[in-house]
Amino acid sequence: MKMATVFSRAMDGLLAPLVRVEVHLSNGLPKLSIVGLPEAAVRESKDRVRSAIINAGFEFPTRRITVNLSPADLPKHGGRFDLPIAVGILVASEQLPDSGLADLELFGELSLDGTLRGFRGALPLALAAGDARALVLPLRVSQEAALVRSANVLAARHILEVAAHLAGKKALTRAVAPDFLSGRRCRKLDLADVLGQQVPKRALEIAAAGAHGLLLSGPPGTGKSMLASRLPGILPPMSEQEALEVSAIASLAGRGVTPDDFGVRPFRSPHHTASTAAMAGGGSVPKPGEISLAHNGVLFLDELPEFGRAVLEVLREPIESGEVRIARAAHQATFPARFQLVAAMNPCPCGYLGDRCGRCHCTPEQVQRYRHRVSGPLLDRLDIQIQVARPPRSVVLDDVEAGEQSEAVARRVVAAREHQLARQGTANALLDNAGLREWCRPDKKGEAMVSRAVARFGFSMRGTHKILKVARSIADLAGSTRVTSQHIAEAVSYRRLDTSRTH
Ligand SMILES: Nc1ncnc2c1ncn2[C@@H]1O[C@H](COP(=O)(O)OP(=O)(O)O)[C@@H](O)[C@H]1O
Ligand SMILES: [Mg+2]
Repeated sequence: MKMATVFSRAMDGLLAPLVRVEVHLSNGLPKLSIVGLPEAAVRESKDRVRSAIINAGFEFPTRRITVNLSPADLPKHGGRFDLPIAVGILVASEQLPDSGLADLELFGELSLDGTLRGFRGALPLALAAGDARALVLPLRVSQEAALVRSANVLAARHILEVAAHLAGKKALTRAVAPDFLSGRRCRKLDLADVLGQQVPKRALEIAAAGAHGLLLSGPPGTGKSMLASRLPGILPPMSEQEALEVSAIASLAGRGVTPDDFGVRPFRSPHHTASTAAMAGGGSVPKPGEISLAHNGVLFLDELPEFGRAVLEVLREPIESGEVRIARAAHQATFPARFQLVAAMNPCPCGYLGDRCGRCHCTPEQVQRYRHRVSGPLLDRLDIQIQVARPPRSVVLDDVEAGEQSEAVARRVVAAREHQLARQGTANALLDNAGLREWCRPDKKGEAMVSRAVARFGFSMRGTHKILKVARSIADLAGSTRVTSQHIAEAVSYRRLDTSRTH
């Protein structure tokens, strides 16, 4: 009996566990059977493998061929196992030598003529594989896999190129990705484009500094979406590891990863009609959803009260844990989902409550009902809550305040974040209660101000904690080791939406 073993990998959330593809040839009625793949996948793969082998000018063995993919209990789908199966058959039938095979991992769906097709999830493979073996990948997805610099990625267009490599005739070329550029951002979206709106811009900067959730409330057309979309551009740059996580998720979602957007923090803005599956991820071969695509970046929920309860509910667990679990019939996939939440809403159903133009005719009951659509726990996560008012006409027309560019703001944010990491190892918004007590305690005057604010506005314990964390971020931006009454006063002003809910 002839036999060959080829290495490949399965897909399990962001993980890519090793799979051994074993091919046995034995005497008996000619038949190809594949064990360890789902039924439908087996049928399609058989046809592709057979015709690719024949069309590439090889012989399809007229023997009994048994292919076993192990371990059996891993989720294995898609065509990525075509290439290892085909090469296994060619090696077992001695049409190709097996030298060097143990140092390779093979991936790729075959088209009927032997051309290799891409598939989603190539980057996670490279993350998982490390430098133990070289990865042979279809040319189209080899570039994204090569972003993982520790990986040795070989690009192939056709099964014949893989055959030539194994036969020692012509080595496959190594895919090389460009250097990682730290601190890239979307230059098209600069904070300087937002005219006026000094208070919202300041709030955005504080949110960036401490990784705080942010709620923007105001009439339509006041620049809420504009502001939110500029948050990624003022956040601290991602590390290479963070950038790889982001691109790995994009790769799994089948979005394709180009070196151009490698290292740019994501900004996701799902529509309020998005389903829970679109939001959390799902599908028979689980794909990451919006909250995972926003990993290490910003999730923007525009028109927050319009989102369905069930959709907002799926955010709760990931907000705590930084990951989302998608339960499948037989298996559970986990995707990372640590995002910074920004939400926008109108102040009332018509949108014009409190606007200068005085168009609003909503009754107080309508306003109440509208605002209560957003669940308390979610609002709780939004440390900073501000009103965005329509700027006076002169600001828009005269362009009086061509504000700061994102780059300048980002420098302050980076400095403030560095203070936090050096002091407590985490961003202020993520401090637990012990950390809060240790690092956010204000000075005497500050404490007195906290007490006064609690007495006056009736802040809950949780609300008070938010104020202390935000005040800590304000102090960090000012380079102050102490949290003073001035910092508290500003932080309190970002919690006033709650207390000014009615007319
Ligand atoms: N402060 C501002 N500076 C410059 N342009 C603005 C500002 N506010 C609104 N705009 C203009 O109005 C449009 C709508 O703004 P948008 O951010 O979508 O408002 P909102 O989300 O509050 O409804 C923007 O595309 C922009 O052209
Ligand atoms: Mg908007």
